[in-house]
Amino acid sequence: MCGIVGFTGKQNAAPILLEGLKKLEYRGYDSAGIAVCKDGVISVSKVSGRIANLCEKTENGANMPGHSGIGHTRWATHGAPTDINAHPHMSCDGRFSIVHNGIIENYLELREELTAKGYAFRSQTDTEVIVHLLEMYYDGDLKSAVMKTTSRLEGSYAIGVLCADCPGTIMAVREASPLILGIGVGENFFASDVTALVAYTRNAIYLDDGEFAELTPERITVYDCTGTVIQKPVSRITWSVEAAEKGGYEHFMLKEIMEQPRAVKSALAPRIQNDQIQLDDFSFTKEDLRGIKKIVVTACGSAYYAGCAGKYAIEKLCHIPVDVQLASELRYGEPQIDSGTLLIVLSQSGETADTIAAMKECQSLGARVLAIVNVVGSTIAKLVDNTLYTWAGPEIAVATTKGYTTQLSVLYLFAVYAAHTMELLSQQEYLRLIRELQSIPQKIQQTLDMNITLPQLAKKYNTGHSMFYIGRNTDYAAALEGALKMKEISYIHAEAYAAGELKHGTIALIDEGQSVIALCCNRHIAEKTMNNIVEVKARGAQVLALAVKGDRAVLAQADDVIYIPGLDPLFQSVAEIIPLQLLAYYAAKENGCDIDKPKNLEKSVTVE
Ligand code: F6R
Repeated sequence: MCGIVGFTGKQNAAPILLEGLKKLEYRGYDSAGIAVCKDGVISVSKVSGRIANLCEKTENGANMPGHSGIGHTRWATHGAPTDINAHPHMSCDGRFSIVHNGIIENYLELREELTAKGYAFRSQTDTEVIVHLLEMYYDGDLKSAVMKTTSRLEGSYAIGVLCADCPGTIMAVREASPLILGIGVGENFFASDVTALVAYTRNAIYLDDGEFAELTPERITVYDCTGTVIQKPVSRITWSVEAAEKGGYEHFMLKEIMEQPRAVKSALAPRIQNDQIQLDDFSFTKEDLRGIKKIVVTACGSAYYAGCAGKYAIEKLCHIPVDVQLASELRYGEPQIDSGTLLIVLSQSGETADTIAAMKECQSLGARVLAIVNVVGSTIAKLVDNTLYTWAGPEIAVATTKGYTTQLSVLYLFAVYAAHTMELLSQQEYLRLIRELQSIPQKIQQTLDMNITLPQLAKKYNTGHSMFYIGRNTDYAAALEGALKMKEISYIHAEAYAAGELKHGTIALIDEGQSVIALCCNRHIAEKTMNNIVEVKARGAQVLALAVKGDRAVLAQADDVIYIPGLDPLFQSVAEIIPLQLLAYYAAKENGCDIDKPKNLEKSVTVE
C-alpha cells in the first residue's frame, strides 16, 4: 500500500521525509521518492526499489536542501514500478509536485482531456492527472486550485501538494484514503499512517473525507469541501509503533480482512464507468471472444479456489465451458489446449512457480492468455499480453484474503464484460449485473458489520477435531476456500465436500459432536444442502450454517446461523467467504497460532 509523508519547518525536510518513509516500509512498496522546495524551486528525487537507494542517491537528504517537502512509497497499480512512475509527480511548468495514495477512477477521461489541452504526460500513472489539473486551475490561488482539482476527481485519494510559489506551505487532501496531520512545535507534518509521525509528535488531527488542510511551520488550517475553515479536535496518538503498523489490528490478516470492501472497490470501480464495463489492458474483440471454444483457468491454492468460484459466473453468462485446473497438475498433464482456448491465470504474487510453468506450457500449445494478478510488473504480468490487475494493495499476511476476493471480483467483471461484448445479455440484464457488481464492496462491509459473534462461534466449533465444510455449486466453491483458510492458519484439519457427495462415503466420518459448516447461501440450491444438514445432525453433528439474511428455514435445522446479505447467486461466494475467513482467524487465535506467518508456509511459492 502506498505511503505518504509531508513536512514543513525550520529543519531540512529531506532527512525527515526519508525517516518517515522508512517507517512506512512495512506496508510494502516498489519505488519511493521525495520532493523538496527551496527558494521557490522544487527538486525531486525518486527511484524504483528500496528506500536505501533513495537515501544513497540523496546522500541521506543532504543534497536536497529545503525546509518543506513531500515523500511517497509506491506500490504499483497503474504502470510498472519504474523511476518515472514513482511519485512525486511534477507539473509541466515545474510549479507543482504531488504525491497520491488511492485510485483515480476517472483518470482515463481526465488524461484525454488534459492531453488534448497540451499537457504532456510522462508516466503511466492515474496520479499524474492530478498535478496537471493543479497547473491548469492555478491562477495564483493555491487553495482554489486544490478545490477545483479535487472537484474533478472520482475515486479515493490522499494527496500531498507542494507549490513552488508558496515555500513553507504544504497541502493535504483526503477522500476515502487515510491522511493524518501531525502537530509539532514550529514544524508540522502529514502522513498516511501514524507510524511515520510518532517519532516527531503524538498530537494529531485526523482528516475526514472531503477535507483538506494547509500546513505551514506555525499553523495548520483545515477546510471542509466548500473551503470553509473548520475546527478539528486534536487527538493523542497512544499506539505503539507495532500496533500502528497494523492499523491498530492485532494481526495483518485481520487488517486485510477488514480492508476488503476498499480492496474490492479498487478492483471494480475504476472499470465501471457510466454504466459500462471497460477493461483496461484486455484487447479481445467481439470476434476474438466469440472464437473461444473453451476457457481453462489455472492457479494454485486460494487462487485456484477463486477460479472454482468464478467458473459458475463465466459458464452461465458466457456459455463457454470452463475447466479449472491446478497449475501443478496442468503443467505435467496432457492439456487439450489450442488456439481456441483462453487460458486465465490467477495469481496474487504473479511469481508462483507452478502457475508460471503451466502458463508457459499452455502458451506453447497456442492458448491466448489473460492474467489476473495483483503485483504489477511481476513475472506473470510480464509474460502475457493481457493483464488485469486486482489493485488489492500489498498483502502482508501469508494467508490470502483480499487477494482472493479481488481475484474473484475481477473474474465476475470479466464474465459480465465478455457476455455483454458477445451480445449475450439484454441491456436490462447487463445493467442489473453491473449494479450487483457495484454493490459487492458494500455487501462485504455489511457482512463484516453483521457478524460480531464469530469469536464465540469459532470457540464452539473448534473442538480440537476436524471440521467439515459442505455446500453445493457456488457454496461448494466458497467451502473449498473456507476449509483451506481454517487448516492453514489454525492447523485444524478441515475438508470441504460437495454436499451431494456426503452419502457417497464421507458421511461415515460423521460422529457425535463433529463440527460441520454448512453453506446455504445460493438460493437455487440451498434447500438441497439443508437436507444434508438434517442427515449430519441425525448422526450427532453440530452444524453452523451460513445463509442469506431473511432465510428463516435454515434456523430450524442448524444449531447456529451466520447471516450474510444477498447477492445474485452467481456472485454470492465473494461475500460468503468473509465470515469463513474470520472463523478461521478466531479459531487460529484461540489455538495460539502465529496467524500472519503460519508454520511451513511462504507468501510467494517461487519454487516447485
Ligand atoms: C492461501 C494462499 C495460497 C496462495 C497460492 C497461490 O491462503 O495464500 O494458497 O493462494 O500459493 O499464490 P499466488 O496467488 O501468489 O499465485
